[in-house]
Amino acid sequence: MLKDYCFEYYESVDSTNDRIKARAHADEVQGLVISAGQQTAGKGRIGRKWESPSHDSIATSLLLRPEEISLDAIPTITVVAAMAVRDALYCLYGLDGQIKWPNDIVLDGKKICGILTEMELKDGKVWYVVVGIGVNVHNKNFPKEIAFKATSVDLELAKSEGGQGHRNELTNEIWNSFKKYYNIFIETQDMTGLKEEYEKHLANRGNRVRIEAQEASYEATAIGINNRGELIVEVDGEERIIRTGEVSVRGIYGYI
Ligand code: ATP
Ligand code: BTN
Repeated sequence: MLKDYCFEYYESVDSTNDRIKARAHADEVQGLVISAGQQTAGKGRIGRKWESPSHDSIATSLLLRPEEISLDAIPTITVVAAMAVRDALYCLYGLDGQIKWPNDIVLDGKKICGILTEMELKDGKVWYVVVGIGVNVHNKNFPKEIAFKATSVDLELAKSEGGQGHRNELTNEIWNSFKKYYNIFIETQDMTGLKEEYEKHLANRGNRVRIEAQEASYEATAIGINNRGELIVEVDGEERIIRTGEVSVRGIYGYI
């Protein structure tokens, strides 16, 4: 069970995930959160780069030491974290994001948040897990390679009544919300208690998507998730399960 947090903030780090890993190796206990004003080497999935320019966005990572957890349950933590970020954006700012399975929150077709969960084994067991969350808050512009698919809290609020996000407030709300969802998840080590809520916010549910895996790329209809947080799709009348890993799920007309 996740109880207390210990928060640390740095002006600039390479990657908050890497800072947590270093502390995990130095025997730090579960609950340490490291946040930074800027990352010089922010990481996305599959070796991709995550842009976290100075003081515009949130870069925050948590150290977990789940006891007796099975290796299979680790990818589900990303799915749980996505629920927490969605919930925080909605509660604080009324932003009604969707979850692009497995690790992105999207608003109006653009990505506002990415999540990277990493872990290390010791003696064949899960030694620690890092949950890293990046949220665009004040960003007004993005590098041209991602401008078509990236948005921020302030850009989204400007479309309605205006206003601004607050990085500190949002970071706290995200981790409060994460604690609530994670403690439900950890009881069963799966999505039994969370699946219904998750599916309400699943982007592309019932719609055609393109599954882009290394070995093949094909169209399917997104159905929902199973209790392990894996995506269920339908191809030619048959259900298939998509596991996290080197797979991207895209809308057939673009990023979402
Ligand atoms: P998929 O999960 O379907 O592969 P994706 O292209 O968003 O989607 P991810 O691995 O989830 O891939 O995220 C990493 C990508 O996010 C980067 O390759 C880059 O295109 C994009 N990206 C990097 N920084 C940001 C940012 N601050 N905001 C939005 N998107 C970003
Ligand atoms: C993705 O969309 O591929 C995941 C992006 C994850 C970015 C966050 S920012 C905080 C933490 N530190 C990192 O280097 N990455 C994660």
